[in-house]
Amino acid sequence: MSKTPTMRIDRLLANLGYGSRREIEHLADSDRVVLDGRPVTDVSARIALTPDVPARMTLDGERLDPLPGLILALHKPLGVTCSHKETGALVFDLLPPRWRHRDPALSTVGRLDKDTSGLLLLTDDGALLHRIIAPKAQVAKRYRVALARPLKGNEAALFGAGGLMLESDDKPLLPAEFEPLSDRAGLLTLHEGRYHQVRRMFASIGNHVETLHRDRIGALSLPDDLGPGQWRILDDADIARLFAAVDSP
Ligand code: URA
Repeated sequence: MSKTPTMRIDRLLANLGYGSRREIEHLADSDRVVLDGRPVTDVSARIALTPDVPARMTLDGERLDPLPGLILALHKPLGVTCSHKETGALVFDLLPPRWRHRDPALSTVGRLDKDTSGLLLLTDDGALLHRIIAPKAQVAKRYRVALARPLKGNEAALFGAGGLMLESDDKPLLPAEFEPLSDRAGLLTLHEGRYHQVRRMFASIGNHVETLHRDRIGALSLPDDLGPGQWRILDDADIARLFAAVDSP
C-alpha cells in the first residue's frame, strides 16, 4: 500500500493560494488557522494529505479549499476565452481568485472557442488531463450545432465515413456521428479535437455554424442545474462517466 504523502502546513496553504509562507505564518500567529478545532501554532508541522483535510482545517472559520487532484466541470459562457494568450475575460476569472495561485495550477482540458458555450473541464491533475485528451482514448465530445443554412441530408454519411480532409490539416478526420434535430440543427459527436473543428467541418461542406454548445464529454452531460459561468467539482462517479462508452450520438 502506498504511503499517504505529507506536507508542511505553510506549504500546503501557500500551494492552495492563501498567501506566501510568511503570510501563512502571520495568519497562524493570530489563530486564524485551525486544525481539528485547535489553532495551529507550528506551521512547519507536516500534515498527511488525506481527503478529509479540507473538512478538518479552517481559515478564518472557512473550510479549506479542495486539495490538489481536482477536476471541475464548468459551464463556459459565450464570450470568455480558455487561453491566457487571448485578450478579454478568461474562464479562470469564473473561479475563486485565490485559485489562480494554486500549485499545481489548474488548466483547461482542451479548449472551447470564445464563441462556444458548454461543458469545459479544468484540472490540476496532469495524468488525468492526458488520459482524457490522449488521441488513443478518443473520448467522445458532443456538440449541439445551429446552422445558417438548411442541412442537405448527407451530413451524417459524409462525417460518419471519416476521411474528410480539412483545409491546412495534414491528416484526414476520424469518423464522427451526426444526428439532425431540425433542418438547421443537429448533434455532432467527435472523437478527436482539432482547432475550430466543428466550424471547419461545416464550412468544408458549404454550411456555417451559427451557434455551438458542447453538452457532453464521454457519458458525462453538462448538469442541468449548472448555469452559464457556474462550476462544480467532479467526484469519482463523474470521472468514470468521462471514460464510459456512449452508444447514441
Ligand atoms: N469545434 C469548434 O469549432 N469550436 C469549439 O469550440 C469546439 C469544437
